[in-house]
Amino acid sequence: MTNRKDARGLMMSGCDTVSAAHYETALWRFQCSAGDPLAAVELALGERADFVMAQVLKAYLNLCGTEKAGVAVARQALARAASLTPNERESAHIGAANALAEGKWDLARGRLQRILDEFPRDVLALQVAHLFDFFCGDARYLRDRPARVLPEWRHDMPGYPSVLAMHAFGLEENSDFAHAEDTGRAAIEIEPRDCWAHHAVAHVMEMQGRRRDGIAWMRARQQHWADDSPFAVHNWWHLALYHLDLEETPSVLQLYDEKIRGGKSSVALDMIDASAMLWRLNLRGVDVGERWQEIADAWMPVIEDGFYAFNDAHAMMAMIGAGRWREADRILLAMHKAEDGQGSNRAMTSEVGLPLARALHAFGRGAYEAAIDGLTSVRPIAHRFGGSNAQRDIVDLTLLEAARRASKHCLVRALSNERLALKPNNVLALRYRASAGSHLAA
Ligand SMILES: [Fe+2]
Repeated sequence: MTNRKDARGLMMSGCDTVSAAHYETALWRFQCSAGDPLAAVELALGERADFVMAQVLKAYLNLCGTEKAGVAVARQALARAASLTPNERESAHIGAANALAEGKWDLARGRLQRILDEFPRDVLALQVAHLFDFFCGDARYLRDRPARVLPEWRHDMPGYPSVLAMHAFGLEENSDFAHAEDTGRAAIEIEPRDCWAHHAVAHVMEMQGRRRDGIAWMRARQQHWADDSPFAVHNWWHLALYHLDLEETPSVLQLYDEKIRGGKSSVALDMIDASAMLWRLNLRGVDVGERWQEIADAWMPVIEDGFYAFNDAHAMMAMIGAGRWREADRILLAMHKAEDGQGSNRAMTSEVGLPLARALHAFGRGAYEAAIDGLTSVRPIAHRFGGSNAQRDIVDLTLLEAARRASKHCLVRALSNERLALKPNNVLALRYRASAGSHLAA
């Protein structure tokens, strides 16, 4: 077996110069969300099938999509990796990835952190842990896990911009917006293709209500994130969100048709963005026509997976939007079964996903009182099933609209006040507040 050091000085087993170069390409693509990392991993494994970290990376890439279909492929790669002669760090990776494959995301995050404490330049461990911090809604670790390792890096090390990008996003999710923007921009200065850094700055602009800044940011940097990126749909979603806030509905629909659903993706992360955008449009009274049917069709093969509550809640939106009540009930049943599972999704489903899906179901049926009750309960703990603050805003937006439809003027007023305190020029919140009039209990 051949051993080599990677670009950050970490020993890797079973590789040669060519396969290690393919691995670095795969890792860079994964970090930056630029190009297809799996294709580069396959090239590495084509050169050296006994390349342990390439097998491990293949497993991670198949697990990071939060899709049940990726698990079998990941398990196969991990079995192959374990059958080789992994070193201690590689064995720890196999253990972390196996925990992910078993759905034990919290266990995996702990295992990854142990790797990082010993090998703070293990950027793959950091990247995977960061993604699952996101999927688990762990805002603190989104910020602090990169912070723990940053002082151990030099600026000229391959992967450093990615560490900055992760830190930027974590800072943003903790509302440290100025620091987040500076850090994201610093990452991009070194690596313009880093889509995660770009996205972190986009989030800052979203949270600060800087819609024109946001559109300019996305458009000026479009060549770096829009082509050849598995993260492109999500960045298009962010661009559409700015336009939505400006009430530029034709632009939103155009972006939806051409970019968000242009590729008719069946990737869960893409279908989430599409469903969430149509839901937001519906809340605003926009008729989205047959678009619900298309996205509902795309979800159909996975609606009973019960694999990740965040996905299930968005599949629920699509079924409600499309008027597919039987399928909506099948999602509820699958989520109910997921409450008996062993992995991290059990609690995410039980505490957030299922109550939210039921509340959305109630909203869709016009049972606004029930929707208000459900959404109000889930709102303070919604972060536990992952996603970003911007994504989870859909809970608040649905609650606002449910309150308006139920003529709960005091609630509309209170929720609008809350939104306006964060975004004083938010057109939607201003309209809701105006609609509530001066209704206050005497
Ligand atoms: Fe985002």
